[in-house]
Amino acid sequence: MTAATGKIQPSAHMGSVEPAPWCIRPAEVGDIQGIKALIDPHVETGIMLPKTLTQLYESVRDFQVCVEDQRVIGAGALHVLWEDLAEIRSLGVHPDCHGQGVGKAIGKALLEDAARLGVGRVFALTYATQFFQSLGFRVIDKNLLPRKVWSDCVNCHKFPLCDEVAMIKDFRPFPDGPVGPPPDLPQVIDLERLVPGLRIMKP
Ligand SMILES: CC(C)(COP(=O)(O)OP(=O)(O)OC[C@H]1O[C@@H](n2cnc3c(N)ncnc32)[C@H](O)[C@@H]1OP(=O)(O)O)[C@@H](O)C(=O)NCCC(=O)NCCS
Repeated sequence: MTAATGKIQPSAHMGSVEPAPWCIRPAEVGDIQGIKALIDPHVETGIMLPKTLTQLYESVRDFQVCVEDQRVIGAGALHVLWEDLAEIRSLGVHPDCHGQGVGKAIGKALLEDAARLGVGRVFALTYATQFFQSLGFRVIDKNLLPRKVWSDCVNCHKFPLCDEVAMIKDFRPFPDGPVGPPPDLPQVIDLERLVPGLRIMKP
């Protein structure tokens, strides 16, 4: 169950408290309030999409958390979109714990989930490009992602002028070109129909 453990170095305001061990594990419903507390400050700064408690409880099985002293200090989700495509979303670490390997450990646990599920590609829409590069992701053209990806983005104040970078990690070789479900599938949300006047560039 545990993907990784480590030690958080005490930050200045923690005084002389001994470093506590942390571990990465699949999220439980009791972690959801802690996950929301990590996400909310990043929503205000525009780094993350807002998530309601309902959305988080419904996607609890997507999440891995980093827990220190029963406190959630980091979290991230792997959301499967298609046979060959999953997304890392809502990945955040408490600011006191940045730069100590927590984010990378969560990212690795999510990639292990993807491998276990047999998903061949994982992408992220992010500003943290160096962080995702350290996990083996590369930058791709955002327009190669399926439109289904943008269904959550409708709730973002930046939509449709999104400046996030699309990054992808392939577990096996794939031909270049669009990824995920074919655009003519009925379950693919057609944003051009939903949002009057919107035109999405085609690859
Ligand atoms: C991005 C974030 C999750 C990184 O978590 P973290 O625990 O601080 O990162 P780690 O300590 O595990 O660092 C892993 C690697 O990423 C690099 N990295 C992390 N943050 C970075 C930054 N801001 N700029 C450049 N490189 C960074 C580290 O140097 C490290 O590289 P290495 O493995 O080659 O040494 C964290 O800064 C965060 O919560 N940011 C706000 C939310 C966010 O942007 N989420 C991104 C996805 S939505």
